[in-house]
Amino acid sequence: MPLKHVCIAFILFGMWSCSEAVIEDEDTAPIVETVSYNPDIKAVVDNFCINCHSASAASGGLNLSTYDLVRNSTENGNLILRINDVNNPMPQSGLMPLADRELFDKWVEDGFPENDDE
Ligand code: HEC
Repeated sequence: MPLKHVCIAFILFGMWSCSEAVIEDEDTAPIVETVSYNPDIKAVVDNFCINCHSASAASGGLNLSTYDLVRNSTENGNLILRINDVNNPMPQSGLMPLADRELFDKWVEDGFPENDDE
């Protein structure tokens, strides 16, 4: 087998065998749709963060229960840093799937729309 094929085989096997683990070079398709708070970001926050970051349980003093609060932490705080911090991740149980983390980057890029129609 040519070396190139051996390498490709190893890369594919690596992607497959690490699909449950924390990896940075996980392959995801680029996000083409505009990412907005209500249809996209809120679902991720509700799923992974809100238990610890609501108005009544604001861990680390951080409440992520509204558009403004999530935007502020993303735009001016360390939200993106922490959701990608392998050593000190948010949620604490481990990094979210890359596809979920990339939504935040695309949301920044898109200018923090709140709803789909903006
Ligand atoms: C199991 C509870 C829990 C979950 C779930 C959780 N967090 Fe946290 N978070 C904490 C605690 C406790 C702290 C304060 C200690 C620290 O910074 O590690 C914190 C701190 C933070 C901070 C730093 C705040 C600051 O001002 O420095 C950010 C940003 C953050 N969380 C974002 C998130 C996001 C985004 C999610 C979901 C993707 C999330 N957290 C999920 C418990 C949680």
